[in-house]
Amino acid sequence: MRRAVRERFLPPEATQVVWSSNRGDRIFSPIFHQSAFFLLVAVLLFFMKTPIRVAVTGAAGQIGYSLLFRIASGSMFGPDQPVALNLIEIEPAMKALEGVVMELDDCAFPLLTDIRATASLDEGFSSVNWALLVGSVPRKAGMERKDLLGINGKIFTGQGQAIARNAASDIRTLVVGNPCNTNCLIAMNSAPEIPKERWFAMTRLDENRGKTQIARKAGVHVTDVTNLAIWGNHSSTQYPDFYNAQIGGKPVTEVISDHDWLQGEFIETVQKRGAAIIAARGASSAASAANAIVDTVRSLTVPTPSGDWFSVAVCSDGSYDLNRGLMISYPIRTDGSSWEIVQGVPVNDFSRAKISATVQELQEEHDAVADLLPKG
Ligand SMILES: NC(=O)c1ccc[n+]([C@@H]2O[C@H](COP(=O)([O-])OP(=O)(O)OC[C@H]3O[C@@H](n4cnc5c(N)ncnc54)[C@H](O)[C@@H]3O)[C@@H](O)[C@H]2O)c1
Repeated sequence: MRRAVRERFLPPEATQVVWSSNRGDRIFSPIFHQSAFFLLVAVLLFFMKTPIRVAVTGAAGQIGYSLLFRIASGSMFGPDQPVALNLIEIEPAMKALEGVVMELDDCAFPLLTDIRATASLDEGFSSVNWALLVGSVPRKAGMERKDLLGINGKIFTGQGQAIARNAASDIRTLVVGNPCNTNCLIAMNSAPEIPKERWFAMTRLDENRGKTQIARKAGVHVTDVTNLAIWGNHSSTQYPDFYNAQIGGKPVTEVISDHDWLQGEFIETVQKRGAAIIAARGASSAASAANAIVDTVRSLTVPTPSGDWFSVAVCSDGSYDLNRGLMISYPIRTDGSSWEIVQGVPVNDFSRAKISATVQELQEEHDAVADLLPKG
């Protein structure tokens, strides 16, 4: 593989010169010496970082089509971190996936070391450092929520087990496919060998949506809005906690005097943004979801700015008196390697009622898939 990678990254003439360096006419050329030296330095620098291997399920889907190119270009792990992609699809989508792989090839991404496309979970999760579980079965007409939970539950049981069997020892998993909190709960419980703090479900798109709504209302740039936590489920019950959010370091409730808007239209807009996008675009959000995946992984791997936090669902330890063991979105901070639920965030009566409602929904989802979870 090393030889294949090396050949992928060096222009053909450079490869020839290096491999034929025993020829006298080239050895004594000063120009050759100089270029060989720089090539050697470049190759050494490249190999100093081991590629991060990332599995993406549902890789031929809408989100996959926006996500893979961001990962391969360096947006997720940085501009000097090589990456390798394991792309997982169901058999009927393998032809489409072949086309996506051709397009990745055609980008000639300098950081992308290799691509494996497969319908086999064991092969797909082999040696991966990150698993991004995007693929899931969408709800169809006439299907009850419980049916959807059951169908996806079986998929995520198999994926959790395959991750435990095959992934690298530092594996971290982010579940995106809906219902993502409960799909993640099932996968996590199917892989008891993997520490619970390595499992996440995505609520970052909701946080990003909320920040933009607040910035628009206040007439500021979105980067001025910080500390906006999403609590609970990635669903229409989620609670975007504007009470603790800030604009330029001041409470949002001081900068935006229209509290009726914050308590009403703001929350509803964030909760129903997914449906509004489907109504406008005729398809569900994909590029913004892919962007939120990149943001989530970056936020989990880069130290959180001082005083700030970000949103992701994690296995609850009972913080804020919420149900232990459920995948609940909380305000989270990290030093870049380990994360923590931010403690001491004020929760007033309004927030408590909203948080209780969304956690109650997560408990109901849990109960609906109880047969897929360990007893007790
Ligand atoms: N958490 C979030 O914030 C968020 C945001 C947007 C979308 N989503 C969810 O992400 C999921 C994917 O969205 P999309 O727009 O890419 O959907 P899509 O239908 O375009 O693509 C889904 C892909 O998953 C594949 N797939 C289905 N079952 C699979 C399995 N068992 N293994 C591997 N691949 C499988 C399908 O073949 C398809 O290519 C959906 O469940 C959607 O609801 C979550």
